[in-house]
Amino acid sequence: MIPIKLEVNGRVLEASVEPRTHLADFLREEMLLTATHLGCEHGVCGACTVLIDGAPARSCIAFPVMLDGARITTVEGLADDAVAGELREAFMDEHGLQCGFCTPGMLVMARDIVLRHPHADEDTIRHELAGNLCRCTGYVGIIRAIRKVAAEREGAVVTRGTALAPPAYASPLALPVSPARVAVEVAPVPLPAAAVAVEAVADDEPLRNPVEIRESFEVPAPRDAVWALFQSPEQVIACLPGARLTAPSDGRSLAAEMVVKLGPMQAAFGGTGLIIPNPADWSGTIDGRGVDARSATQVRARLAYRLVESADGAVTRVSVDVAYVLQGPLAQMSRGAIAREVAARLTQNFAANLAARIRGEAPAASAASLDAGALAWSLVKGWLARLFGRG
Ligand code: FES
Ligand code: FES
Repeated sequence: MIPIKLEVNGRVLEASVEPRTHLADFLREEMLLTATHLGCEHGVCGACTVLIDGAPARSCIAFPVMLDGARITTVEGLADDAVAGELREAFMDEHGLQCGFCTPGMLVMARDIVLRHPHADEDTIRHELAGNLCRCTGYVGIIRAIRKVAAEREGAVVTRGTALAPPAYASPLALPVSPARVAVEVAPVPLPAAAVAVEAVADDEPLRNPVEIRESFEVPAPRDAVWALFQSPEQVIACLPGARLTAPSDGRSLAAEMVVKLGPMQAAFGGTGLIIPNPADWSGTIDGRGVDARSATQVRARLAYRLVESADGAVTRVSVDVAYVLQGPLAQMSRGAIAREVAARLTQNFAANLAARIRGEAPAASAASLDAGALAWSLVKGWLARLFGRG
């Protein structure tokens, strides 16, 4: 049994769970929250959909032992939620349910759709709802109900219950590099001659309930050399597996794309970022937002870095704080321990590439894309092995 701490429908609890117990069983059998239904138990039907850190996720393939500290909301926890209330009425009015088996998962997902797509049309709703199966209704009434609520909310009038809050969601990125002193030369990357084609603007909107990851690694090089590399978006992007600039950068604004494979799925997040260096304390931030056009999953992220030089000046420790929020169908693939492990691997690749580039070598761990799916599975195996003491 593994001790964990969770917040379920606003109640913080401590429990001991078997590693194999999935979240849906935990909710139904330990918490007696039986509105979360189980259909396929393979992550296909969506009947078990709940909110994990504010984003829809399938509780049959989520494990409490991997969700320590997470905030879980079941459909019972949405009893006083304004949007969920409007959806319940609309489902009744528009014949959006028959046997009701799929309905809890449908409501959780529908609320998320309404909040993310206030002007949702039928195509959008059908696309977003593709992961929730109903064997009774033929979907027509469900789609009509969601469209109705979305249309009524265009004026954003909260009619009852809790105040409307947009979905607040809770994947990308220490490599101990040999501290041997190396000759440092940052290879210049030629900029395209064209004028800068993108201008990012400051994004003051705070990230709500982001996934936060802190990593650090050492680069066997003096701080000013590492700093110079960090001021070159071309150099930094070239160190990230699967990333590329999509337009010339003026050193402050950047437009980039990052391809990540998630098992059989491939996401290509394209977006813009704003780089703000702070030479006074060898730090800086990069704020960015992007979208995967195929899945309509949106990402907002803030990366803050700081460079600290060793006493002899030969090694630079790079601290990186990443905070990100994913919204959309891929959000449920992006949180928890696996996401953090994927992020740690990305950081390792980034650090290895950075060190290689500083040595004037080709990036050691570059790849056309990051296969997070394959990576995640190897991580799951490693994690299980550690858990059972066979690692
Ligand atoms: S029971 Fe979880 S997706 Fe079907
Ligand atoms: S209403 Fe019966 S499965 Fe959807």
